[in-house]
Amino acid sequence: MRGLVVLIARLAHPVVSHEALKIVTWEESVLKKLFAVAFALTGLLGIPAMAQTYPTKPVTMIVPFAAGGPTDIVARFVSEHMSRTLGQQIVVENVAGAGGTTGITRAAGAAPDGYTIMMGHMGTHGAAPALYPGLKYDPTALVPVGVAASTPILIVGSMKFAPKTLQEFVTYAKANPDKLNQAHAGIGSVSHSTCVMLNGQLGIKPTAVPYTGTGPALNDMISGQVDFMCDQIVNLAEQIRGGAIRAYAIASPERSPALPDVPTTKEAGLPDYQVIAWNAIFAPVGTAPEITARLNEALGKALGDEATRNRLLNLGAVLPAASEQTQAYLGDFVKAEVVRWNKALAAAK
Ligand code: MLT
Repeated sequence: MRGLVVLIARLAHPVVSHEALKIVTWEESVLKKLFAVAFALTGLLGIPAMAQTYPTKPVTMIVPFAAGGPTDIVARFVSEHMSRTLGQQIVVENVAGAGGTTGITRAAGAAPDGYTIMMGHMGTHGAAPALYPGLKYDPTALVPVGVAASTPILIVGSMKFAPKTLQEFVTYAKANPDKLNQAHAGIGSVSHSTCVMLNGQLGIKPTAVPYTGTGPALNDMISGQVDFMCDQIVNLAEQIRGGAIRAYAIASPERSPALPDVPTTKEAGLPDYQVIAWNAIFAPVGTAPEITARLNEALGKALGDEATRNRLLNLGAVLPAASEQTQAYLGDFVKAEVVRWNKALAAAK
């Protein structure tokens, strides 16, 4: 402290006279008092110094699938508002491969300093452990930041694919097992795992066509190169409304307000096929609680923002209730999802 004060005094008084040194002593005592008051206030307010300054530079959010797909959409919508709250840009980086596990492995291995976070989902943080015995991250150990959205699953088909209803699809799929092909975003992705469940229930084995995400898969389905897929609503709503693809059914108990004409699987004759996906933000193991709390707070503000909410709701996302927005909720939820998907995928084999 004294060194700093003397340095300031030297800058102000290049020749340090006796008089100047008296000023130093006076300045030193004033500065010490000011620092003491500042530290006391910080302690009283319970705000650790790191959380007050974080972030001081852009934050990278790794999206483990191709741009333009459902994970990317949710990530870009929420991170746009979070950037405004944090005063620093959240830069989305798409690192696709191996059903999303390549990107999550990269993010999980980054420095736990709050400058690399990830947008995970039901596949990367729920189903992947059951399908990748050598998985290099433990979803239950990563630091939960918060749930961004739930995304109902739909069974959708190309307009160039003959079946027009779910019942016609089931009949066709059973009668033509070797003609049928299904798009997915890699082993363990949402589109893969949820269609493993569907195919298991129907007793069908379509040819699986892997993509780096369901964004590019959707383009191929629109042009008729693949027949069908199971995918998250946010990727599909606009194309269904625009008549570019066909929705057979939504695998949730109720119809979606975003797609009121699409029947539920129960209404369409497949009541046991019920599944919902989700997206959530995580940070690498060891990221300071003050940092993840700040990110959670920024996410909460994004989810409370009318424009951000409307963008997500318009695409059919289901937004978490306040009680589902805590870090503790996500931590417990991920543990339950890993167990649930382990059982579901074992049963579907
Ligand atoms: C994506 O963003 O492409 C999807 O979330 C992929 C998937 O898991 O099906």
